[in-house]
Amino acid sequence: MRSMVPDYLADALADVEPDTSGALADYIPELAAADPGRLGAAFATVDGEVYGAGDVDVELTIQSISKPFAYALALADRGFDAVLAKVGVEPSGEAFNEISLEPATGRPRNPMINAGAITTHALAGVAGLGPAGRVERVLDGLSAFAGRRLRVDEGVCASELEHAHRNLAIGHLLRSHGVLTEDPDAVVEGYTRQCSVLVTTRDLALMAATLANRGVNPRTGERVVPEPVVRQVLSVMATCGMYDAAGDWATQVGIPAKSGVAGGLIGALPGQIGIATFSPRLDQHGNSVRGVSLFGRFSADMGLHVM
Ligand code: DON
Repeated sequence: MRSMVPDYLADALADVEPDTSGALADYIPELAAADPGRLGAAFATVDGEVYGAGDVDVELTIQSISKPFAYALALADRGFDAVLAKVGVEPSGEAFNEISLEPATGRPRNPMINAGAITTHALAGVAGLGPAGRVERVLDGLSAFAGRRLRVDEGVCASELEHAHRNLAIGHLLRSHGVLTEDPDAVVEGYTRQCSVLVTTRDLALMAATLANRGVNPRTGERVVPEPVVRQVLSVMATCGMYDAAGDWATQVGIPAKSGVAGGLIGALPGQIGIATFSPRLDQHGNSVRGVSLFGRFSADMGLHVM
């Protein structure tokens, strides 16, 4: 049975391959230079089997797919109360780079939009760690989810930082509300480094499988974060992971998921599998066009709709 999975994946890729709609993200110049034809998909089971087809070993930057994992680290390091005091859990219904702060408190609506993710980045690691130590903590944590040592793409990071006016503005707004309590420029730089971590589609499937396996990496056996943290993260992925397309996604695919502007997309099914796809052309919400199609197909073919 399992030996049929690679053929199934290859067939699914062949079906979506002709779709060249959508566009590369161009607000980060380095991403606009990516090969738009890349296409890959991988499944990782909770017992550590990984199946892939297409460009599953090509590196891409993780971008917003880092957000649920950084949220997990913040929850594990600081506890639920401290994190929830700073970042909400309500869908914003707005684009990922909207300001989306609660008017009374300045608290970002959720940790999947940029405002929330900049805040959760600042909450990773023990209090008082400082910008460099925090980036190390996040890199160590993302690596533990993937089960191998990951690194930052310095070119993509520098390219984004040169044009990060919007995230810097959000950082300063968060600082003015007291949601951030330190230099917002340093926090946004750390967040941008987090987004610039290089992963393959295989890594992404294993990171998703670590969530599906309730916080234990199915390959290394390492408990990366406690089980209640994973439940919280999957809930927020389910409601907010696809931004202003979250409702369409919930009804059509129905899997807790997270997308990134480099074209990655992950989904996690508790107790079963982590799924990842890679195709760089994006729809108007910043979600991978062919990735969304592939997930729709996987969900329908295997009855994975759980939401
Ligand atoms: O902060 C940004 O805008 C990027 N580093 C990440 C955005 C992203 O991946 C949105 N997801 N589709």
